Amino acid sequence: MAALLRVAYAIVPSQTHSDSIMMSSVQRNCRQRTMVVILTIVVLSVLFTILYWSTGDFSAGQLLEKHFKFSKAAQSLDTEYHTCAAQPGAIKRGVLSALPSYRARPATNDLDLMKKMLINRLTDDYCYCKRMIPSHTSPAFLNNTRNPCWWENGSMQCLPYFYIIGFSKCATTDMYSNLVWHPSVISGQKEPHWIDYLRFVENRMYLQNYTAHFKDMIGKIEMSAFSKGYSHGVFGDATPCTAWYSLYWPCFQGNQLSLQEPEYTNADVVHRMVPTAKIIVMIRDPIDRLYSRYLTWRMKVPHAAYQRPSPEAFHKLCVHAVALYQQCLKQGSPRQCAYNGTLYTQVILRLQEGMYSVFLKDWIRVFPKRQILLVSFEHYIKYKVETVSAVWSFLELEPAPEKTLDKLRKKAPVNNQNNVYETVGDMLPETRSLLEQFYKPFQEELLDMIKTGTFTLARDLIKSL
Ligand SMILES: *[C@@H]1O[C@H](CO)[C@@H](O)[C@H](O)[C@H]1NC(C)=O
Ligand SMILES: *[C@@H]1O[C@H](CO)[C@@H](O)[C@H](O)[C@H]1NC(C)=O
Ligand SMILES: *[C@@H]1O[C@H](CO)[C@@H](O)[C@H](O)[C@H]1NC(C)=O
Ligand SMILES: *[C@@H]1O[C@H](CO)[C@@H](O)[C@H](O)[C@H]1NC(C)=O
Repeated sequence: MAALLRVAYAIVPSQTHSDSIMMSSVQRNCRQRTMVVILTIVVLSVLFTILYWSTGDFSAGQLLEKHFKFSKAAQSLDTEYHTCAAQPGAIKRGVLSALPSYRARPATNDLDLMKKMLINRLTDDYCYCKRMIPSHTSPAFLNNTRNPCWWENGSMQCLPYFYIIGFSKCATTDMYSNLVWHPSVISGQKEPHWIDYLRFVENRMYLQNYTAHFKDMIGKIEMSAFSKGYSHGVFGDATPCTAWYSLYWPCFQGNQLSLQEPEYTNADVVHRMVPTAKIIVMIRDPIDRLYSRYLTWRMKVPHAAYQRPSPEAFHKLCVHAVALYQQCLKQGSPRQCAYNGTLYTQVILRLQEGMYSVFLKDWIRVFPKRQILLVSFEHYIKYKVETVSAVWSFLELEPAPEKTLDKLRKKAPVNNQNNVYETVGDMLPETRSLLEQFYKPFQEELLDMIKTGTFTLARDLIKSL
């Protein structure tokens, strides 16, 4: 400290003797104050430098600014949204506790991205919402657009015509990227994630916040409706969480907090918005799906088992998750456990996502069979061009031109993660048998649903093409 003080005095230019005689006490105070300011600056600079080196990728100023903004944002979130679990202060605590792990991530230099990641993290950890979410009923649709659209305050608004609702790691990305090759399918943002969670974040609950994701697509539809009198263009939402991620169900209008399981799920939300929606579900062996997801999410989950993936680490995660879900299943119904957000946050594996039959029953409750298409991943990768053509026909689009099919035949699959699989290897046999046992009742139920003709099947459509 004494050394710092000397440095501070040395920085301030010393005055001549005659000057100092003339110095009034005001001036002396002023000089002392200058010393204090300089001293403070020096001390803070040293502290900031230490902070800077210890955090690597942000400057200390940026960090403080971020911290300040997050605290402020957290406070306003807390006031505006009450948590479903009615825990005042939960959001603020969540932001502050999440901050260090995001600070350490090298890819997050931009504040908006960081905020988005925080909000994602928070929506996973805390359920916060305004209970009175508008019912999202859309107006009557226009008759000169194939896509569901309407006019509002002088501008065109549209909602997706089709929905690829799930499941992740079942080739939904590849399917979407192929569907948009059709001349009538307009490509754009693939995963808006509004239905599953963005509508519970900040001020994004309005239908316009959803349609805003499709601005470019809507522009194209508006243009051809205007210039040609009719627009054939359609677009879709391919968020693979829509099928099952109704974890904020206590926030849905109509669901009571006292319920053990939801009365309304994402299926009802989509049906309310677009009763004619065409629903595409891609499924895969739930065990392969789980492992694929584990291997490809290693950079996104801050957990050692993900960052250094191995069959043994995967086994441990599975044992833990299966035990927790089995315990829940002893006390409650499968549906109750599948939609239990608390349970979901206790396991770091999306085990329940593979309970397909539980979630799909909610979709067939609100949509007729002709509007739900089931595509098997295993079948899709074998008969890709045929399956994509079948989906176009399910979407009631005209057959694609031969040159589109040709391009499709030559195209490499999107989002192929074989290289990770090759280095880590297959899961342990005991993991597979543990998971087989867990998924057995749900797989049997699904098979029954398929056998009794609950869904439109892609493979049946191929036969009739
Ligand atoms: C389409 O809608 C417009 C106005 O909404 C109406 O005047 C017209 O008759 C409709 N056309 C058909 C073919 O239904
Ligand atoms: C249209 O105007 C009404 C009334 O001002 C408003 O409530 C609504 O949000 C507006 N819609 C859009 C899409 O801006
Ligand atoms: C959501 O929509 C409302 C109403 O149009 C708007 O005021 C608000 O800014 C939008 N939110 C975001 C995050 O864009
Ligand atoms: C949800 O899971 C939690 C934690 O496992 C459990 O305490 C709770 O009873 C479950 N709720 C329901 C409705 O099953």
